Parts: sequence; C-alpha cells; structure tokens
Amino acid sequence: MTLPPWAKEFSLAVIFASWSASLLFATHQTWTDSQTVEAPKLKRLAASGLAALLIQYLLGAISRNYHAGLACPNFPSCAEGVFPFSFESTLAFAHRWWGVLMLGLFIHFSIAALKSAPELFRSARRASGLAVAQVFLGVGVVMTQLHPDSRLCHVAIGYALWGITLYILARTGGFRQILARPI
Ligand code: HEM
Repeated sequence: MTLPPWAKEFSLAVIFASWSASLLFATHQTWTDSQTVEAPKLKRLAASGLAALLIQYLLGAISRNYHAGLACPNFPSCAEGVFPFSFESTLAFAHRWWGVLMLGLFIHFSIAALKSAPELFRSARRASGLAVAQVFLGVGVVMTQLHPDSRLCHVAIGYALWGITLYILARTGGFRQILARPI
C-alpha cells in the first residue's frame, strides 16, 4: 500500500508539534518561575528566528515533495546560471538563499545574548553554530546529490535549531503569558 504524499507531511507535522510541546514541558520550570531572563531584543530575535525557520521548513518540505532538491545542482549558482528559471529551481533557490540570509539573524543571537543576557549566551552561541553548520550541511546535501546520510543530518540539525530557538524564546519570557496560565 502506498501512502498519499500528504500523509508523510502530516506525520512530520505531528512529530514536529510533539517535539516542541515536549521541549516546553521539559523546561517549564525555567520559564514559569523567576528564571525568566529580561532580554527584549533576544526575545524578538528568537520569535523572528522561529517564524523564519517555519518558512524554511515549508520551503524544504515542498522542495522534497516536488523532487526539487537537485533542481539547482550547483552552489552558489543554479543549474543554468545564478538565477533559477523553473518552479522547482525557484523553490530550491528560495530555500538555499533564505537559509543563508537567516545566518545574519542567528549570528545576532550571540551578540544580543552577550550584551543583555549572559545566562543565555551558551544557548545563543549554540544556535549560531548550528545555523552555520546547517548552511554547510545544506551545501553538502546538494554536492552529494541528496545522499541519504547528508539529508538526515541536514533535517536533524534543522530540528535541533528549532528546539534551541524555542528554548531561548521560552527563557526570555516569550510564552509566559500564554502557557503559564493555570489550566
Ligand atoms: C538554516 C538553514 C536551513 C535550514 C533550517 C534547512 C532545513 C531544511 C529541512 C528541514 C529540510 C527537509 C524538509 C523535509 O524533508 O521535510 C531541508 C531540505 C533541503 N535543504 Fe535545507 N535548510 C537550510 C539551509 C539549506 C541550504 C543553505 C541549502 C543548500 C545550499 C539547503 C539544501 C537543501 C536541500 C537540497 C533540501 C532537499 C533535500 C531533499 O530533497 O530531501 N538547505 N532543509
């Protein structure tokens, strides 16, 4: 029996939501009590980081569904030149350059934490490091012609980056009003 294409996306979305919920549950002590860190800039960066990552995951998932992973088989140029010409290559192009653009945001994480939230500097530095690694892994996925191992590492680091960004948002009080309410 073959599953329809949406079934895999649906199960991934469920895994993704469970991973986020478990992470928030496991760390709830750190964001419901006095351990929340007052760092508005870092909080804004973390919220923007999550929004940007969500767009990136959607672009990655759509690329995979349309078998567009190798529509831009070179890096940094696309197949025919620097800019893409088909739907598939536009997807691949958007995914790779959105990822590179996000580097700026994630590197800002460490700078903002160093200045205003030293308690979160280690986590912020990890997020910056994971973002840099993720871009290199993305290039690796293309260069190895979508080798399963490099695909797996790329997806795993992507989820780790989501987790650490979610944690930083929680620690800076991003979920305090919504999640700290008694049920
Ligand atoms: C922070 C940056 C990035 C993040 C968070 C990210 C995340 C992801 C995720 C989650 C997927 C898998 C989607 C799925 O299977 O449902 C994916 C696929 C992919 N990514 Fe990235 N990515 C990033 C940057 C890059 C870059 C810079 C490149 C290339 C230079 C790249 C190349 C690819 C390719 C080719 C695929 C499709 C693989 C396939 O067909 O299975 N990614 N990405």
